[in-house]
Amino acid sequence: MDMRMIREKLAEAGQDHLLQFWGELSEAEQAELNLQLQSMDFQELSSFFQNAMKMSGHIKEEKIDEKMEPVPREALGSVTRDRDMLKGWEEEGLLHISQNKVAVLLLAGGQGTRLGVSYPKGIYDVDLPSHKTLFQIQAERILKLERLAEERHKVKSTIPWYIMASGRTMESTKQFFAQRNYFGLKKENVVFFQQGMLPAMDFNGKLILEEKGKISMAPDGNGGLYRALGAQKIIDNMEGRGIKYIHVYCVDNILVKVADPTFIGFCVKKGGDCGAKVVEKTNPTEPVGVVCKVEGKYQVVEYSEISLATAEKRSSDGRLMFSAGNIANHFFTLSFLKDIVQIHEPRLQHHVAQKKIQHVDSQGQLIKPVKPNGIKMEKFVFDIFQFAKTFVVYEVLREDEFSPLKNADSQDGKDNPTTARHALMSLHHRWVLTAGGHFVDENGTKIPAIPSLKDVTDMPIKCEISPLVSYAGEGLEKIVSGQVFCPPLVIDETGIHQLVKNGL
Ligand code: UTP
Repeated sequence: MDMRMIREKLAEAGQDHLLQFWGELSEAEQAELNLQLQSMDFQELSSFFQNAMKMSGHIKEEKIDEKMEPVPREALGSVTRDRDMLKGWEEEGLLHISQNKVAVLLLAGGQGTRLGVSYPKGIYDVDLPSHKTLFQIQAERILKLERLAEERHKVKSTIPWYIMASGRTMESTKQFFAQRNYFGLKKENVVFFQQGMLPAMDFNGKLILEEKGKISMAPDGNGGLYRALGAQKIIDNMEGRGIKYIHVYCVDNILVKVADPTFIGFCVKKGGDCGAKVVEKTNPTEPVGVVCKVEGKYQVVEYSEISLATAEKRSSDGRLMFSAGNIANHFFTLSFLKDIVQIHEPRLQHHVAQKKIQHVDSQGQLIKPVKPNGIKMEKFVFDIFQFAKTFVVYEVLREDEFSPLKNADSQDGKDNPTTARHALMSLHHRWVLTAGGHFVDENGTKIPAIPSLKDVTDMPIKCEISPLVSYAGEGLEKIVSGQVFCPPLVIDETGIHQLVKNGL
């Protein structure tokens, strides 16, 4: 496209300010900006903006509280309330895994702005004794699960891993996996694909220049998944492999049970086409979105959308009525995803997030705003719940399955490297105790399972078990039962490593 055509295209779209520094740009910068401009469909962008702004205004005016209904018991499975069903669900899940019908899909296209590192979050080392990254922990859980399915059904099992990255995280993510030899997984079973990007805009829909020759772009949200699944032919790839069920999850949950056979088995047995794993919300003011029905259709209602009175409502069993806390951990059948990609996705509206967007002003000065000066548009992974024919919800224990890494470390902080590390070590500590192991301190004094108050420090017992040894606490009895350990304790494929070895 020549300059004249680009100028016309911009003038028509009311975006001609994007060329205000054109004359000052080097040839290479001009070529890059030209490329950015050519790739943009301004008509589509304008309609995204109009619709997203309309929707954000609409939500504020409308009261959602009266329309909300909790998840009915028949759509709900629970690790605490349905204990006698768990074995059966797990068997069902393992069977599908052994038949190579299950894939996992990782949402790893976020920018991780709160964590504040320049590399992808999956590469983060939360300082476990092993220094494994989030990617490695997840890869090893996949490997272990393949082995468990193989052991059970005596056939070779593969769980393909689809990894969605964005323009900003793709190259470094791919490079990391290649350098680490895909953590023992087969390269052809790790499939990377890229989500879309959208330009940041001011409140009037004008695109923002982050540099004189560069438009500010951001990934289009984790719901960008659905467009990418079609555009990058991932649905075809899944179909080609005979995949029927997909577990979708976020990169930042250190406890995530990738392809959790019990969750998959539960969803399949219930005939669900779409499922959400949730944790119980126990505090009415906890800032978490809840899965519920609104006008008969499932959705996630954000905590900011409801009144305190609604958040505080309780059922007859004393639990919060709206207690299904969303942890962005989902089950989909492939046929449901196909319908989403082919029919529903184009009609989903973007959500608007007001942001402080760094930009150059009309004099070309770099401005770092102190208050929001524009918007980013995003779709969310849960926007498609409304299209489910049979929606199912699976409630798990937070301390076993959910500890997200969102923020950088700070005192009294939440969801940071320290809380993630502690959550994992505390879970593994409990696994060892449950399997019949014990801990002593360096003087040989037994450490109580639940330390008395005066012993409480903010340090949990340092204990880490490789996912290659145990996926969810299974198989540990033969290793730890009757044994006494002095932390730090690491159990991996090469054996037991600890500070001092104590026999019985
Ligand atoms: P968050 O909403 O927590 O965003 O993502 P984030 O990018 O990790 O962190 P902040 O908000 O910038 O601090 C939840 C999950 O969705 C993925 C993230 O990678 C994470 O796994 N995600 C988010 C995407 O895959 N694409 C996106 O565009 C946004």
